[in-house]
Order: sequence, then C-alpha cells, then structure tokens
Amino acid sequence: MAYAKARIAILISGRGSNMVALVDAVTGGRIPGAEVAIVISDQAQAAGLESARQRGIESVVIQRGGRTREDHDREIVAELKRRNVDLVCLAGYMRILSQVFLDSYRGRILNIHPSLLPAFPGLNPQKQALDQGAQTAGCTVHFVDETLDGGPIIAQRRVPILPEDTVESLSARILEQEHLLYPEAVSLVLREAQSSSAAQT
Ligand code: GRF
Repeated sequence: MAYAKARIAILISGRGSNMVALVDAVTGGRIPGAEVAIVISDQAQAAGLESARQRGIESVVIQRGGRTREDHDREIVAELKRRNVDLVCLAGYMRILSQVFLDSYRGRILNIHPSLLPAFPGLNPQKQALDQGAQTAGCTVHFVDETLDGGPIIAQRRVPILPEDTVESLSARILEQEHLLYPEAVSLVLREAQSSSAAQT
C-alpha cells in the first residue's frame, strides 16, 4: 500500500458518528496523506448521510434489496474500485462481509467495535460487559477477516465501568474514545504502509 494520498471509503448503516470523526480528522490534518473518497451506506435512511453531505463528502446508497450478500458486495466493490479506494473503514456498518469483499480488499478493511476485543464480540457488547460484571470496557480497531470481530487488533482504548452505569452511559463513554481511536488507528495503518513501501524501494 503505497499512495500519494490514500483514498479512504467509509461504510455506514446508521448514525455515522465515527464516520464524522474520521472525516473531521482527515480535514483537520490528523490523518496525514489521506482523503475520504466516498461514504457508502446500505441504508437509505442512515442519519450519517446528511452529516457527510454537510461536510461536502460524496456518498452513495447501495442497498441489499433482496440480493445475495455476494451480489450486494460485488456492487460495493465495483464502486470502491471505480473510485480507486485504497482503504475501507467500516463505521457502524451492520453487515457481515462476504468472501467477495474480503478477497478484494484483504488486509485493507478496518472495523471499530465497542469492546476490548477479544472480549465481547458480536452484538450489544456494552450490555454483554455490564451483564458479565466487567470492570473495564473500551473499544478496538481491528482488521476485518472471516471471523466475527476477530481479525488482528490495531489499537484499543480503555474506559472504566462505573457502578451506576447503564448501557447508555457506558456506550456514551466508549463512543467518546472511539472517535479518538479510529483516526489514530487509521493513521497508524497508513504510516506503516508508507514505511514498509519505503523500505522496499
Ligand atoms: C459504534 O459504537 C461502533 O463501534 C459500532 O457501531 C457503533 C456505530 O456508531 N460498530 P456510529 O454510527 O459510528 O455513530
């Protein structure tokens, strides 16, 4: 991965606050050598689409619409290729990727998950953490592979769980850290890609 400017695609399904954190970090120069090429949502009603529009970021909606997961992913991958996307950031994208997608962007797909993986993969990790009586929680950015939230970990941030916490209060505390962690992790991945390509030249 050696680019003049790495072209990032951000995939969302809903609120899009992590997408906004990434866009704002790129705009603010906190992810050097990157640009956001496109935001893709699989949901036409995703609130994040409006946030992207307000920031002048192009977005497209690619709904599954009764197709197989593979056919849906083929259309997304075609869109990514058309826009010369180098790195894909899943940000609250609520679909499992098919082999078609994974094979096309292997090692270049990142996800953020609101737990300290490998603890609490899957749905509602904040509730899982509270139900299990965990004392700390956090968030993880990892590479996406065939496993559920199980790909190689890039970076994590930790938060305390307080006795009075609800799912909402804990989720809000974690989300604040997600918005810091995701740009840091993307910068790290791009920096390593640049330095490994420099070492080869
Ligand atoms: C975040 O908690 C993220 O970790 C998880 O889904 C949530 C998405 O929130 N994968 P947002 O759409 O980025 O606001």
